[in-house]
Amino acid sequence: MKEDGEHLIGSSAVIRELELEVQYAARSDAKILITGESGVGKEVLARLIHRQSYRSRNQLLTINCAGLPDSLLESELFGHVRGSFTGAYRDKTGLLELAHGGTIFMDEVGEMSLRMQALLLRFLETGEIQRVGGDKAQSRVDVRVIAATNRNLVEKIASRDFREDLYYRLNVIHLTVPPMRDRREDIPELLEHFLRVYSERHGVAKPQLAPDALAQLVAYRWPGNVRELKNFIERLVLKNRTGVIGVAELPSEIIPPPPVAPQTQQARNQLVSSMYERMVKGHESFWTVVYEPFMLRDMTRDDLRAMVSRGLEQTRGSYRILVQLFGMDVADYKRFLNFLRKHDCQVPFQRFRSLGRPEPSNEEPVREVSGSR
Ligand SMILES: Nc1ncnc2c1ncn2[C@@H]1O[C@H](COP(=O)(O)OP(=O)(O)OP(=O)(O)O)[C@@H](O)[C@H]1O
Ligand SMILES: [Mg+2]
Repeated sequence: MKEDGEHLIGSSAVIRELELEVQYAARSDAKILITGESGVGKEVLARLIHRQSYRSRNQLLTINCAGLPDSLLESELFGHVRGSFTGAYRDKTGLLELAHGGTIFMDEVGEMSLRMQALLLRFLETGEIQRVGGDKAQSRVDVRVIAATNRNLVEKIASRDFREDLYYRLNVIHLTVPPMRDRREDIPELLEHFLRVYSERHGVAKPQLAPDALAQLVAYRWPGNVRELKNFIERLVLKNRTGVIGVAELPSEIIPPPPVAPQTQQARNQLVSSMYERMVKGHESFWTVVYEPFMLRDMTRDDLRAMVSRGLEQTRGSYRILVQLFGMDVADYKRFLNFLRKHDCQVPFQRFRSLGRPEPSNEEPVREVSGSR
């Protein structure tokens, strides 16, 4: 069975295109910059490129440039000589030397300090290694550099946090891995793949995804991309007892709240009518009668628009009178109109004017109302 990371799962056009780009990149020695959000598979691409290249006889070494202090990062990359700092008891070979003939994958390259960027640039230009504490260039190495970042380097260049010359050095071949939400057609295949991988790993029967659960998982945003999906599936596989994963098994962050409480339109019409009566006949306020059910989505925007239209019919298009009809204080006029506008429920008043005797227009049109509630 193939471990994950050995090949790209997915058959969207984007993934197929990336596979071609990987093959093409593997044929040359050019430096590569891989960009994309966290967890999209940048490291997977780097490994594939190395494996398909003639360098696969030698090592692919990885270094994460984030979170290491400069001194440590420098010694990791370039090595150090004995006695060059406290604790340097013996000479140490850096990763660039160890990767000679192979590839180095520099992850989160966007986090490097300006000083480290200068050192890296010098290495890229000369291929020479100077160990920390060494007084001259020790050796020349032949290493292919693949760098990755989830940062927008162009923005970092603009803010002078990333060297433009280094950017152009690294960015000879540029691969971009789009987030999962932009290639949702890959989600079923990834789910299936990781269900298989983790049930085999944990020695349990592979659970089936119920169609409604699958639909929810495809619709979910996956901010942590493939890594999030993979970890999520491992947890599901471990928790599952029934062999079927239905919507009930999915955590609440994956299932969006239903847009409207599941009531029939007829039931909602009755609810809206009784609310209308409570305001118009019972003189209860709109804020007590309508506000909460609307915010709880027990009534839709269409219901609210219908209620407003019914009121405007009675007031012949006057929002000022409507405010009072709906049991509110005259001073609530702006707050009410802003509320309608915010929820896109304002109804144009003009068509109600022609229903009867036109009133002198002393109101502000709905559109022009501004200010806070
Ligand atoms: N297309 C894919 N097929 C199979 N596995 C994948 C795929 N994309 C990502 N993965 C898996 O998802 C996880 C995250 O991928 P990877 O580490 O390459 O992401 P990344 O882009 O380097 O993230 P970060 O920016 O956080 O370092 C890994 O376990 C990897 O094996
Ligand atoms: Mg990574």
